[in-house]
Amino acid sequence: MHHTKFHPIRMAPKIDHPALVDLLRRAFSGERVAAFAYIGPAGSLRSRETERGAVRQIEEDEWEHRRQVKRLMDHYGITPSGWYEVKFHLIGKVVGLSCYVIGRFMPYFFEGKLESGNVCEYFVMMHRFHELGITDHDEILHEMGVKEKEHEVYFQSMIEDEPWLPLFERIFHWGPNRIANDVDLESLKPLPESKSYCLTNREH
Ligand SMILES: [Fe+2]
Ligand SMILES: [Fe+2]
Repeated sequence: MHHTKFHPIRMAPKIDHPALVDLLRRAFSGERVAAFAYIGPAGSLRSRETERGAVRQIEEDEWEHRRQVKRLMDHYGITPSGWYEVKFHLIGKVVGLSCYVIGRFMPYFFEGKLESGNVCEYFVMMHRFHELGITDHDEILHEMGVKEKEHEVYFQSMIEDEPWLPLFERIFHWGPNRIANDVDLESLKPLPESKSYCLTNREH
């Protein structure tokens, strides 16, 4: 008789770290905002094909991040937060739709600002895991954090010459002179040293 061996899914023990659990839930739902928000600009860019392609790629990256974060949550038996899902879904829809109305500068500016915050989300997550002695996820968290940095730099480059930028930078605290993270793509730290990123963003 043929036996099918039963392999139970090995689930890691629940993590006792409320701030980390909250950060995972927030990142999971936040990735959907980012992905939704891009539906706007990608759809509203008619003439600039390369720009459209770049924005589509960023949207894809965000869905992939959401899948990765979900994998981490499943591993530790953490369920998504219904409240964050609804809240971020609505924010994403509003930002996405606004792109059709107010032109390119504002959505790109706010998405750049959003990306800027997301960079540290993954490095702070890494620190939190380290507090529990867990280093298994360093690589994926590093990869996602760096990817968010690439997104931030992209949006920044797209609006750097816009006349509105200096004013928005002053009001909303994001722009060429006010970056909310200490990750520099020009001199990226390798994985072992990336622990030192975002140490001042721990309350994030
Ligand atoms: Fe992301
Ligand atoms: Fe991103």
